[in-house]
Amino acid sequence: MSREWWRSAVVYQVYPRSFAGGGREGTLAGLRARLGHLAGLGVDAVWLTPFYPSPLADGGYDVADHCGVDPRYGTLDDFGALVAEAGALGIRVIVDIVPNHCSAEHPWFRQALAAPPGSPERERFVFRDRPNNWISKFGGPAWSQAPDGQWYLHLFDAAQPDWNWRHPDVVALFERTLRFWLDRGVAGFRIDVANMLFKQEGLPDVAAPGLTPLRPEAGATPYENQPELLELYRSWRKILDGYPGDRTTVAEIWFDAAEHAEPYLGGDGLAQLFDFRLMPCPWEAAAFRAVIDDSHRLARRSGGSIPWVLGNHDVPRMVTRFGIDQDLVRQPTAEVLLGQVEVDVALGTRRARAAALLQLALPGSAYLYQGDELGLPEHLAIPAERRQDPMFERTGRAFIGRDGCRVPLPWSGEAPPYGFPAGDSPELGTWLPQPPGWGPLTVAAQEADPGSTLALYRRALAERRAHPALGDGDLEWLDLGPDLLAFRREPGFTLVTNFGPGAAELPSHEAVLLASGPLDGSLLPADTTVWLR
Ligand code: NOJ
Repeated sequence: MSREWWRSAVVYQVYPRSFAGGGREGTLAGLRARLGHLAGLGVDAVWLTPFYPSPLADGGYDVADHCGVDPRYGTLDDFGALVAEAGALGIRVIVDIVPNHCSAEHPWFRQALAAPPGSPERERFVFRDRPNNWISKFGGPAWSQAPDGQWYLHLFDAAQPDWNWRHPDVVALFERTLRFWLDRGVAGFRIDVANMLFKQEGLPDVAAPGLTPLRPEAGATPYENQPELLELYRSWRKILDGYPGDRTTVAEIWFDAAEHAEPYLGGDGLAQLFDFRLMPCPWEAAAFRAVIDDSHRLARRSGGSIPWVLGNHDVPRMVTRFGIDQDLVRQPTAEVLLGQVEVDVALGTRRARAAALLQLALPGSAYLYQGDELGLPEHLAIPAERRQDPMFERTGRAFIGRDGCRVPLPWSGEAPPYGFPAGDSPELGTWLPQPPGWGPLTVAAQEADPGSTLALYRRALAERRAHPALGDGDLEWLDLGPDLLAFRREPGFTLVTNFGPGAAELPSHEAVLLASGPLDGSLLPADTTVWLR
């Protein structure tokens, strides 16, 4: 029996507002016009972050209508055309579902605000006469006051009220939403904040409310991992299984310990959940190995699938993470949160290329974030008045937020808007400004350069498709010393990543399949990965 496609899939994350324009912002038509880039890269699927009608208080994760397309991106017909055209290229389309909260502009929340305390309209949300001590993931209190004095819960921005998942209307709304998009041919859903929907009855205070925004949690707070979630996801799985073609669910769950992820996976539960723990890893063989080992064992034990992630729209880009003093990755200081940090882009790029080859050789599925295939660094110098992420203001500007990894992609040319384009008023530029100096990083420039990061990703994905050892399966660690991460996959594949400061001797091999940088005879230079036969 053939295993489901998603167990081995390489999925490319599209942030529609910044993928391809359009004008100042990306559109679905822009994405359709650039599907050739994704086909050339060789990905199996795209995941689109929210493109639903939204006031964009949180980049579209504040959904005002779950079954529509925001006019800024196009129409439902554009979405249909996207699914069809991507499908013709062998690319599946996964969409985001955002079930923890909606937009304050959602009709049901407007009705709730207009209705009195104790009304049925308010029961779809979490209204209380007094707030508890929970902190928003974006900083500040997790409660805001309605004009009549009652408080409503929002684990994120005040413009993102949390649903009451014990209300049947909410359950039904999301079942309708799943079917709506499944009927339009989506291959699955990425589930936003998948572990927080249900809150413990009584909403008890948390012991330590001072959490750093968006960092992984303990996993045991009263708003995480409540037992009702398991039943909910079993019911969703049944809905998906009623459709042909192995549709998937991939959950956003930040976990530290496997025990907080395990209950969701396997059997009739969620198909997949992300492992985000490689993203905060310093460039260190032992740190990478510990995460890989733990997740791989969890996947084998549970029968679920745990895609590997090195970047997404919530985390500083890996070129920048790997290009700073790695002690600052271990222990970020206030300066790091403000982006006031020295970055060695050349070093970060070498390591990011090595990390990409490591990610793509691991057993299972991999998610790539748009722009990582170009080796883009984080854009740290966005002026304060142009920043859009609500975390910036909600943390009292103590954290610059996530805009720096959401900058529109550079397609061609030597200067902004790098072929994005910038629409009728080019002086306004793209919605988030692009930095100068990205000319050599554009798609056009990298297509012409066989040594580019784009060329490396293309070769890696082609090799991954062709090689019987890659994708889903197992690995066997090789111990080659503390600075080297090495494993074998059968038949006939060995990976070595050199995390150390000096060159290292390669193990015996028949041929070099691919390397993230130049080799030095039989030596593997620092910050380099090699795939061997
Ligand atoms: C996770 C999303 O990836 C992030 O961008 C968003 O701000 C929060 N969930 C809230 O929806």
